[in-house]
Amino acid sequence: MKILITGGCGFVGAQLAVHLQQRGHRVIAADNLVRRGSELNLPRFKRHGIEFFHVDVRNAEDLAALPADIDLICDASAQPSVVTGYANPIFDITNNALGLIHVLEFARVRGCPLIFWSSNRVYSADKTNAPPRRATATRLVWDKEKYLRDYAAKLIPGFDADQGVSEEFTLDGNERSIYGLSKLMADLACQEYAGAFGVKTVINRFGVISGEGQFGKTDQGWVAWWAVAFHFGLPLKYIGWDGKQVRDILFIEDVCRLVEVQMENLDKLSGQVFNVGGGAGNSLSLVEATNLLREKFGRDIPITYENKPRKADQSIYMTDNRKIEQVLGWKPKIGISEGYDRILTWIRENEESLRVLYGSEEKAASVR
Ligand SMILES: NC(=O)c1ccc[n+]([C@@H]2O[C@H](COP(=O)([O-])OP(=O)(O)OC[C@H]3O[C@@H](n4cnc5c(N)ncnc54)[C@H](O)[C@@H]3O)[C@@H](O)[C@H]2O)c1
Repeated sequence: MKILITGGCGFVGAQLAVHLQQRGHRVIAADNLVRRGSELNLPRFKRHGIEFFHVDVRNAEDLAALPADIDLICDASAQPSVVTGYANPIFDITNNALGLIHVLEFARVRGCPLIFWSSNRVYSADKTNAPPRRATATRLVWDKEKYLRDYAAKLIPGFDADQGVSEEFTLDGNERSIYGLSKLMADLACQEYAGAFGVKTVINRFGVISGEGQFGKTDQGWVAWWAVAFHFGLPLKYIGWDGKQVRDILFIEDVCRLVEVQMENLDKLSGQVFNVGGGAGNSLSLVEATNLLREKFGRDIPITYENKPRKADQSIYMTDNRKIEQVLGWKPKIGISEGYDRILTWIRENEESLRVLYGSEEKAASVR
């Protein structure tokens, strides 16, 4: 297949590009290189024979200039931080929502199917934080007994205290962040284009994705950022909940495997939404990430605390993967410790180029 990846030089896009090209597909990576570190993928693409086009998805003309005969689009372009949108909502919305409409229009005109990287942030934190929770020594957990007692009369649709959040969870609420808003707009547009124009779209609402090749930073890509900080001895900060907030983690190779299965089932999947993540068995708090890396590095790094959680932050998010498992038989395979080992190997193998980005506190702070 000839596959266009928008956001093709970002973490997900670049890892997917190399993965698919190595499996005999022809990949075109389109990106405006706004993400720090994305430019480091260009020499890698040359080595792998991946074509690069400088494209800004906010400009329909950039997309129109792309080669013909594209068989599939994977859209992984976005401003992905949940923090920055409050200062400049229009930026998130033009990049992530309007940009995606341009990609959908391109898909409609060219007759290409589209796999879209949506986000768990379409679910509002005031809703996902509603179920009762308690703290253990290292993490927050949903208090299942209290939940079943308090909500006995009406359990929350799409929520399961063991499994997490499914596609049935409400999309209402007013704390999903501006990023979340922009992703929800794009997510709904993908669904609508499937119905209105017959564009084959698959919408994956991913939890945290991490792995080798991620240029993590404090406000996005924290799993890799934690490893980079340990490697270069940079300070870390827990913001809210004493660092006990929990996410399920999906590693990039599992994402690439998912895309391959979805590519083979585009007719069956069109217009469908899937929650996709590491799942409850593959979850981690910040405190636990620190503990694991302490063990792997055999040393500590300075950690500071900020009491107040970030605006619209989710205290616990875990993906209920049951739908994607049932429909495609796909399950994540890479566990947290193995995933971290892959990240650490990547950091060691690319230490010099990463030092340019992260070699000091000042440099790391400017990774935007
Ligand atoms: N990483 C995660 O944990 C996670 C979780 C859920 C969803 N997602 C979604 O997955 C996708 C990929 O995320 P990522 O982690 O690879 O982020 P990333 O920042 O590493 O990659 C995004 C890429 O998009 C490019 N880009 C941004 N604006 C653009 C524009 N206007 N035109 C063209 N290119 C543009 C950036 O330069 C970057 O290379 C995004 O849509 C993100 O919202 C990511």
